[in-house]
Amino acid sequence: MNTYYYHCIKGSFPVDRFLYHMRLSDETLLDIMARFQAEMQKGLGKDTNPTASVKMLPTFVRAIPDGSENGEFLSLDLGGSKFRVLKVQVSEEGKRNVQMESQFYPTPNEIIRGNGTELFEYVADCLADFMKTKELMQKKLPLGLTFSFPCKQTKLDEGILLSWTKKFKARGVQGTDVVRSLTNAMKRHQDLDVDILALVNDTVGTMMTCAYDDPYCEVGVIIGTGTNACYMEDMSNIDLVEGDEGRMCVSTEWGAFGDDGALEGIRTEFDRELDLGSLNPGKQLFEKMISGLYLGELVRLILLKMAKTGLLFGGEKSSALHIKGKIETRHVAAMERYKEGLANTREILTDLGLEPSDADCIAVQHVCTIVSFRSANLCAAALAAILTRLRENKKLVRLRTTVGMDGTLYKIHPQYPKRLHKVVRKLVPNCDVRFLLSESGSTKGAAMVTAVASRVQAQRKQIDKVLALFRLTQEQLVGIRNKMQVEFEYGLKKDTHPLATVKMLPTYVCGMPDGTEKGKFLALDLGGTNFRVLLVKIRSGRRSVRMYNKIFAIPLEIMQGTGEELFDHIVQCIADFLDYMGLKGAQLPLGFTFSFPCRQTSIDKGTLIEWTKGFKATDCEGEDVVDMLREAIKRRNEFDLDIVAVVNDTVGTMMTCGYEDRNCEVGLIAGTGSNMCYMEEMRNIELVEGDEGKMCINTEWGGFGDNGCLDDIQTQYDKEVDEGSLNPGKQRYEKMTSGMYLGEIVRQILIDLTKQGLLFRGQISERLRTRGIFETKFLSQIESDRLALLQVRRILQQLGLDSTCEDSIVVKEVCGAVSRRAAQLYGAGLAAIVEKRREDQGLEHMRITVGVDGTLYKLHPHFSRILRETVKELAPQCDVMFMLSEDGSGKGAALITAVAKRLQQAQREH
Ligand code: BG6
Ligand code: BG6
Ligand code: GLC
Ligand code: GLC
Repeated sequence: MNTYYYHCIKGSFPVDRFLYHMRLSDETLLDIMARFQAEMQKGLGKDTNPTASVKMLPTFVRAIPDGSENGEFLSLDLGGSKFRVLKVQVSEEGKRNVQMESQFYPTPNEIIRGNGTELFEYVADCLADFMKTKELMQKKLPLGLTFSFPCKQTKLDEGILLSWTKKFKARGVQGTDVVRSLTNAMKRHQDLDVDILALVNDTVGTMMTCAYDDPYCEVGVIIGTGTNACYMEDMSNIDLVEGDEGRMCVSTEWGAFGDDGALEGIRTEFDRELDLGSLNPGKQLFEKMISGLYLGELVRLILLKMAKTGLLFGGEKSSALHIKGKIETRHVAAMERYKEGLANTREILTDLGLEPSDADCIAVQHVCTIVSFRSANLCAAALAAILTRLRENKKLVRLRTTVGMDGTLYKIHPQYPKRLHKVVRKLVPNCDVRFLLSESGSTKGAAMVTAVASRVQAQRKQIDKVLALFRLTQEQLVGIRNKMQVEFEYGLKKDTHPLATVKMLPTYVCGMPDGTEKGKFLALDLGGTNFRVLLVKIRSGRRSVRMYNKIFAIPLEIMQGTGEELFDHIVQCIADFLDYMGLKGAQLPLGFTFSFPCRQTSIDKGTLIEWTKGFKATDCEGEDVVDMLREAIKRRNEFDLDIVAVVNDTVGTMMTCGYEDRNCEVGLIAGTGSNMCYMEEMRNIELVEGDEGKMCINTEWGGFGDNGCLDDIQTQYDKEVDEGSLNPGKQRYEKMTSGMYLGEIVRQILIDLTKQGLLFRGQISERLRTRGIFETKFLSQIESDRLALLQVRRILQQLGLDSTCEDSIVVKEVCGAVSRRAAQLYGAGLAAIVEKRREDQGLEHMRITVGVDGTLYKLHPHFSRILRETVKELAPQCDVMFMLSEDGSGKGAALITAVAKRLQQAQREH
């Protein structure tokens, strides 16, 4: 025989028999506890949640208060037995001091069951009234809204009402965002300037209130008008929210437990009858067996039935006993008082127009006890399930925890708390539970949540401020396009050329391959991410090319050593390649792609003006690179090569693409560096004799801005990157746009945000101090749309950056802002050239193909799209086709070499 917790209660056995089904054995409670555990699991699972009756709603409250919260907040507390508006002052100086001023407002039925818009207008009116009385009108205060109904949240300041519960049933609110509705309603008060930062359930508010005083508090329970509980769940168990780190408070909405029939075995005829007469039949079945709104009614229904069957009042029923709601929870509580209980019972029954005997009073008291005891038992079972879950999540043998409690039933019923505590402790003997009553309601906790939200909002503003520096308006972009055009003209004109920052270097490449080129050529490709040596076999007529290539590393100490070492190394690589291809001794013509600014006087002469990007070998600037290569070959004295052409990578790229598409008259590199070349009319090139035909100009636009004309868009981060570079003050446009620098800009921003305490918990790690950690490929990965946050976090962790999910979001945004600006700046530059070409030719409309190469263009998920969009906007009369150079610029260099070779021969033959 099972023990019943109330078996010691003396009294009326007919009542016991009559209410036999309301008495729950230990076994039954353990069964309910197990069922509730399964229900929680179901609610948390992504696939099972839609059909789960216990919704386990994520609340987006991630941490309990740590004492650092401060400020002045407004709070609304709607949904319990009383509606309150409050002002909460959370102390500064970390003294855990909270001051509250509040005012209650009535919630008449016509408001809470009327039209939704009117309900929110009423709430807004009460708020306005409160602010007027408290003279708060001129202040802009953040508001936390305690809204005690099931809401689906995707963030802290949004909540879609899933369904009304308890006494509320306003029309047109279900399925809508209550934060937005209230915000809209507040607009009617022009003098009201309030920002709703957080929506919290009352259980969450209660938990947070109690956690402010006791950091062990991680559960909140309401046993009031309605009943519900929330607790801190591990993020990894919450399928509905992305991220695995830390914990989040989940509002179980346990009131709906049993709505799928899971509790039919214990529901009685009285429960069914009560449900049918409620505002939400079939819903909140667990709540209806437990909470204050229903307890008195259950007692009334039982008494009525007992009277009908002659078990009470000599079979007499009063008319008042027939009226729904005539017995309330406060009556039940009064009847169960130790000393005055019996007298209270008599008085209450008499007030109902009954004439109870002494035995009747004892029996009625006993009914109350059974009903309220059942309520406490059921709550205890569900709470025990939560505690067990917490203990298991933490993998503890014993759990020490605190449960924050609130609600009128729990507060005013004389026996309820004791019974509940006792049963919980019995059901979970391996938990040391402290029950802490929230004396101040849920608002203090709601203010804590709002305080955190307001801190997050302030931080967000700081982050946005930084990101805004990288946002370019259409007007700014047009301005940049126009300035670029001015610089083009400066570079082309003889007078202005010496001082021009965009150098517009003639390349002596005058025509496109015509398809008649043929032969075997060697090519070098130096200056991009990879150094390559290639053998290119061109077959005439069919426009087909076969290539063999090998990538060689150029160690940093060689890039930045002496010129001799660099060129010796290059020749060493050529020797290796020739060996590898079995070509030693063959004297092949060679095209040298050298991706740095060179002043050329012919196709095979190029004086390095200055190093850019990561190169800084000594004794090269001012020297002819072809000579240096020839000398290095001589020094080695092993083979001879016929160096026919030196070409910039942009030119090589244009040629590679021009071989396929004759319309290709622009070459663009968006890679380690940034540059563009295009075909210009000879008559516009003042530095070179002759007016006939066209010549390719290597713009070296990377130097755009070196005269200060981009200062207005340069950020402090750009300046830092520039200062830390090999060539401070030079290549400013390149440093805002190309792969070698974008990651560095990102790194500088992250350092700054970390210093401001907005990232990485304010800790600047060694890794973050390391130059160059964000290579283009990482930027590209981080920005990929297909990546989940967790993957972004993993990439950052690979880079040695220990980031939270929030950090990862910010890092991704920073990358996005920096790369977007780069793509737009590229777009402005490209628009400048195509527009210039169109105007020069006097065309209304122009079609042109741009050959493109470079890792930034190729790997980045959004760069090419934003570039295209920007060009379209800034050069609407040009139809720009982008053609990706699949084969690199080595092929183009070989083609140029072939053309040059053909021209050489033709000259010789003349
Ligand atoms: C109050 C809280 O103390 O208790 C409310 O401030 C909460 O947020 C209420 O809804 C629950 O109890 P009752 O009995 O008022 O529904
Ligand atoms: C390669 C070309 O494909 O792209 C090189 O062959 C060029 O000539 C390079 O310099 C540019 O891109 P990145 O990203 O390697 O600098
Ligand atoms: C009802 C509501 C729930 C609330 C509880 C206590 O069950 O649905 O959100 O927490 O009442 O007020
Ligand atoms: C740098 C070089 C330029 C090259 C570009 C792309 O800007 O100065 O010559 O074309 O990088 O590699």
